[in-house]
Amino acid sequence: MDRNFALEFVRVTEAAALAAARQMGRGDETAADHAAVEAMRSAFDSISFSGTVKIGEGERDEAPMLYIGEKVGNGEGPHFDIALDPLEGTTICAKGGPNSLSVIAIAEEGNFLHAPDTYMEKLAVGPDAVDAIDMRCSPSENLRRIAQAKKCTVSDLTVVILDRPRHADLIAEVRAAGARIWMIGDGDVQAAISVAMPQTGVDVLMGIGGAPEGVIAAAALRCIGGNFQGRLIFRKEEERVRAKKMGVQDLDKIYTIEELARGPVMFCATGVTDGSMLKGVQFKGGGARTQSVVMRSQTGTMRFIEAHHDFVRKPHYSFS
Ligand code: FBP
Repeated sequence: MDRNFALEFVRVTEAAALAAARQMGRGDETAADHAAVEAMRSAFDSISFSGTVKIGEGERDEAPMLYIGEKVGNGEGPHFDIALDPLEGTTICAKGGPNSLSVIAIAEEGNFLHAPDTYMEKLAVGPDAVDAIDMRCSPSENLRRIAQAKKCTVSDLTVVILDRPRHADLIAEVRAAGARIWMIGDGDVQAAISVAMPQTGVDVLMGIGGAPEGVIAAAALRCIGGNFQGRLIFRKEEERVRAKKMGVQDLDKIYTIEELARGPVMFCATGVTDGSMLKGVQFKGGGARTQSVVMRSQTGTMRFIEAHHDFVRKPHYSFS
């Protein structure tokens, strides 16, 4: 996988973030998502590659753009599979909260799990606790093992969990074990990545979020060298039927990080609103500043890119 592509693809998340950021705090999730999707879709076309969306905005009948199976890129050059979320945290962006991102992950053909649009139970840690986790064990046992790997006590650990009623038992168990909790309203891709970034102070992600987001987070953690385990969670029979149609044979399977995102992968994200990992888009007269991160699994290099966009010379980026 040519390393230069990572720097090409960051233009795609920059374009989506610039578009979505115009909608920050406007209370319109649909408009924010739509802006990001349109901008990402057209930015892909400026790159010489032949891409297939594997994790996208939904099935073809429910998403007009960036649907699963859609071809992206100008059709010339190598073929890649794409896992994307033009605006991860639509509610966050619409409310002007922290940590909304535009993200894409890139892999060679056939290397992303074809994840149905359902939920996934997730367990993610950074490089210093890679071998400690096992989803078959209870949350408290996992916390004990993570603390041992990190040479600290469970009370030193911070667990990030989506604030949802479905997590009541998990939250009670984590509290009883003595760990601290960082409860988030949305955005578990950013949360999963933050467990591998010491500056965030977060040690482990636990709980249930979107399955497509799980595949994207696994790709990012492959690049950083963390670990991720996921198990699909179905809300209704219809979702089980759809998953089987998509090729999922064992509905209770615990997926390893490599089964979610295999082989060489790249990951790019651009901040839409300010967050613990990336600054959000800042507009100024005639331009804007974006902050992005680009990573590759082959080298583990993580590049933070601050870009200053001049709308006079790039009028298609102004989106005003
Ligand atoms: P969107 O960007 O699609 O709104 O997803 C936000 C998110 O918080 C994800 O990060 C998370 O995986 C999922 O929603 C959780 O789903 P739910 O809101 O149904 O609990």
